[in-house]
Amino acid sequence: MDGRQGLKCALIMFTFLGLLHLIQAQDQQGFISLDCGLPPNQSPYIEPKTKLNFTSDAGFIQSGKRGRIVDVWEYTYQQYNALRYFPDGTRHCYTLRVNQGINYLIRAGFVYGNYDGLNRHPRFDIYVGTNLWTTVNADTAQDNEIIHMAQSNSLQICLVKTGTTAPFISTLELRPLRNDAYSTQSGSLQLISREYYKQDKDQILRYPDDVYDRQWFLSYIDFDFVFDFDFPHQREINTTLTVNSSNPFDLPKVIARSGATPKNACHPLSIYKYADSPSDNFVFYLHFAELQNLQSNETREFDIIINGNILNSAYSPKKLQIETIFNRSPKKCDGRECGTELVKTGKSTLPPLLNAYEVYNVMEFPYSVTYPADVAALKNIQAAYRLNIISWEGDPCLPEQWKWKYVECNYTTPPRIISLDLSSKALSGVIVPSFQNLTQLQRLDLSNNSLSGSVPEYLATMKSLLIINLSWNKLKGRVPQVLLDRKKNGLQLMMDENPKLCVDDFCKIKNKSILIPVGASIVGLVLIVALLVLFFVFKRKGTQKARNNQPFKSSILTKKRRFTYPEVEAITNNFQRVIGEGGFGIVYHGSLSDTEKVAVKLLSQSPTQGHKQFKEEVELLLRVHHVNLVSLVGYCFEEDHLALVYEYTTNGDLKQHLSGERGGATLSWENRLNIATDIAQGLEYLHTGCRPPMIHRDVKTTNILIDENFQAKLVDFGLARSFPTGNETHMTTIVAGTPGYLDPEYNQTNWLTEKSDVYSFGIVLLEIITTQSVIDQNREKPHIAEWVGFMLTNRGIENIVDPSLAGDYDSSSIWKFIELAVACVNPSSLGRPTMSHVVNELKECLVSENSRKGGTTEMESKSSFEPSMQFAGGVTPVPR
Ligand SMILES: *[C@@H]1O[C@H](CO)[C@@H](O)[C@H](O)[C@H]1NC(C)=O
Ligand SMILES: *[C@@H]1O[C@H](CO)[C@@H](O)[C@H](O)[C@H]1NC(C)=O
Ligand SMILES: *[C@@H]1O[C@H](CO)[C@@H](O)[C@H](O)[C@H]1NC(C)=O
Ligand SMILES: *[C@@H]1O[C@H](CO)[C@@H](O)[C@H](O)[C@H]1NC(C)=O
Ligand SMILES: *[C@@H]1O[C@H](CO)[C@@H](O)[C@H](O)[C@H]1NC(C)=O
Ligand SMILES: *[C@@H]1O[C@H](CO)[C@@H](O)[C@H](O)[C@H]1NC(C)=O
Ligand SMILES: *[C@@H]1O[C@H](CO)[C@@H](O)[C@H](O)[C@H]1NC(C)=O
Ligand SMILES: *[C@@H]1O[C@H](CO)[C@@H](O)[C@H](O)[C@H]1NC(C)=O
Repeated sequence: MDGRQGLKCALIMFTFLGLLHLIQAQDQQGFISLDCGLPPNQSPYIEPKTKLNFTSDAGFIQSGKRGRIVDVWEYTYQQYNALRYFPDGTRHCYTLRVNQGINYLIRAGFVYGNYDGLNRHPRFDIYVGTNLWTTVNADTAQDNEIIHMAQSNSLQICLVKTGTTAPFISTLELRPLRNDAYSTQSGSLQLISREYYKQDKDQILRYPDDVYDRQWFLSYIDFDFVFDFDFPHQREINTTLTVNSSNPFDLPKVIARSGATPKNACHPLSIYKYADSPSDNFVFYLHFAELQNLQSNETREFDIIINGNILNSAYSPKKLQIETIFNRSPKKCDGRECGTELVKTGKSTLPPLLNAYEVYNVMEFPYSVTYPADVAALKNIQAAYRLNIISWEGDPCLPEQWKWKYVECNYTTPPRIISLDLSSKALSGVIVPSFQNLTQLQRLDLSNNSLSGSVPEYLATMKSLLIINLSWNKLKGRVPQVLLDRKKNGLQLMMDENPKLCVDDFCKIKNKSILIPVGASIVGLVLIVALLVLFFVFKRKGTQKARNNQPFKSSILTKKRRFTYPEVEAITNNFQRVIGEGGFGIVYHGSLSDTEKVAVKLLSQSPTQGHKQFKEEVELLLRVHHVNLVSLVGYCFEEDHLALVYEYTTNGDLKQHLSGERGGATLSWENRLNIATDIAQGLEYLHTGCRPPMIHRDVKTTNILIDENFQAKLVDFGLARSFPTGNETHMTTIVAGTPGYLDPEYNQTNWLTEKSDVYSFGIVLLEIITTQSVIDQNREKPHIAEWVGFMLTNRGIENIVDPSLAGDYDSSSIWKFIELAVACVNPSSLGRPTMSHVVNELKECLVSENSRKGGTTEMESKSSFEPSMQFAGGVTPVPR
């Protein structure tokens, strides 16, 4: 018992040893620190001075080239050495995942460093979304900073070429702030100046002294220009006592402890800042604390005057307590000069005192973007056809001068897409459903491509459409009658040069001739199925619940099928109902008969290794059978039509169940254990029961389907080899596409093994127990494995378990489960258990959960924990 416990501890220790030093390092929660142009293989790194964790910008932007400043320019801060530049196109955007309604400090750094050898300082504009932030004149190294509230969960920072020089960027940083600190009635805050008073070696003070990583610059405290009356001499005042700086602005401790007063007590303390434009509106944030121990006959009292108007009169700083005072209504700067003066009152015996200050220009960003559903549809279309069009970055319609090419907009508020011209863009695959989400589209040109499949019926329901050009494609089948009807009513519909498309009444005859054999074969299939059902019913005599023997599955044991494309069209009723969009293609609902439902996946891309090999691969998959694997029922290979026909499961996927998306009661702990055990058995079968063994390569909650009896089945196995993996990163934007499930060893070896499946399965286990997202940038640790490690070390197990389980579980089974999950996500594949071991452990979890319930186990779960003898032989994970 002890030894075993020790082993488990060792496992946990091993997994989290790597995490421990991260936990001890400063908390950079929510920070995004991009070293732009950094080669991904050098990412991430910890910048030694600030301890900030910088990563490459590779996952945040698709365009641009990597550059490096020339050596003589090498900067003390390493993050400025690499850069990304954009010689082509006009506008390029970084897309960052943020939280709507949160105030962010955004900082973009630019160090030209003659990276291109041209010695020409670039000049270009930067935008926050669709709004101009500022013009960068890169003749000096610089950081630009703005505080901006995220209007949605995605934030774009765009660089725009305005002259002949190529835009570039060195760093991009994002820091979430407290919303009660720099709040404005409207507008974003562009930093003009942020200074503190202290005799200091370091010119710039930032993270980790400043928890928000604001950059504080040293004010010129020792100005000794005797003739300069604008800058009365100041002197530093400081204290060794602690100054309470806990107000929303969270001033760094070292800054709170020092401040400045005029050397001549009768002089005011003044700050003057120059505006770029007379329309600039300044806000001053002034941070005060009394640092001296005042005698009873001493007072410090002064008026705070901004642009000649008194903001506070007879103000006294609070003793050893930071107070921040700012003008709520921004001030215009007459003659471009804006100033604040602190003037001692007559009563005061001591001169004014100031600890630190910040000056911002309030920029009004008329938040305006194209209609979000239109944008989402365009992005789906872009991803589905892998369109690589230079201008397709940022907002499609705004600003008007950088509208996407091939798109026309109606500039209403918000702007809408009214025309899309994708002719001659080498599009292939089917006409995807996303087009129908462009609900105000008037003109759609998809001509001169290689589009295949049928003409979708939904085109007829798009009320705004006036022109559809589908000529010169490889479309097939019959044009939907509803669409032809609309043509009669004035829709311009062009479909010439689609040799296999039939537009006239002859279709009906052709169609019948297709349908008859399908019908016949379905009748045949139904008969076979019926016979098999009888056979099974007699054989099993109801000893097992329906859970394991849907009639259809029985039929496929003997009946592998190759379907023709017209049959597939008939089965899916012309691809009428989309039920999902899995990897590699869209999934349609289909029926082989009234009772036999199937899921038909129309592959949107060609397999990488050629049809013959792919066919062999699929033939192999047809032989794979296990109750916990979604069976392949048949397939269709015809020229450019590839479809896979799967057994149909009715009850969504695990992700939907865990996220509560499907409604209904939360999955009980027992349900979850059953599902985990099911999938573990499916995987075990792939790894050890199949000849040749198979690696799934894409285990994740969306690939785990649930049937009406809550039996879980893995789908999509065996295909990843035939198609490039990671194709989903194109579908979703940036960080969301980070695999999360991918074996970390894959990065070094580029090689997936059974243990990679174990890793992914471990992530699934963590999701099952926590219902947390795999990656969530707003958590203490973004990745679920790190987060669980962090929580185990800092907060304890009860904070990991999905709260909606409400304690209704056996805690020893929970512990065992977590230990198992943690072992599975061991960064080293050697440390991960085999699937057989995992299955056994999960069964033990089930046993203890069931015994808690007094052993009144239902038959259903029973089938899951009948010991599977053949794998019970001492497979033990090695903690190394
Ligand atoms: C730095 O950040 C990256 C990505 O955000 C993360 O994967 C990595 O573990 C972090 N490294 C350290 C040492 O904090
Ligand atoms: C306090 O200020 C004086 C100058 O007024 C300076 O010499 C001294 O180093 C400062 N002490 C600290 C702890 O900053
Ligand atoms: C610091 O000031 C805040 C706000 O006035 C107060 O709530 C808090 O108790 C103070 N902390 C200490 C340690 O005095
Ligand atoms: C305050 O009183 C002290 C003696 O208690 C004296 O030395 C000092 O000069 C007084 N200061 C003022 C401003 O009157
Ligand atoms: C733009 O939309 C408005 C309002 O829906 C409509 O009245 C107008 O005709 C549209 N303009 C174009 C060019 O489609
Ligand atoms: C069709 O596209 C090809 C390239 O894909 C192009 O060369 C050809 O000119 C296009 N034809 C028409 C009529 O646009
Ligand atoms: C169309 O829009 C709806 C609702 O906005 C969304 O749920 C759906 O996923 C979109 N479909 C496609 C194919 O983009
Ligand atoms: C339809 O597309 C074809 C091929 O690109 C083109 O030649 C034709 O002019 C288009 N027709 C219309 C009305 O746009």
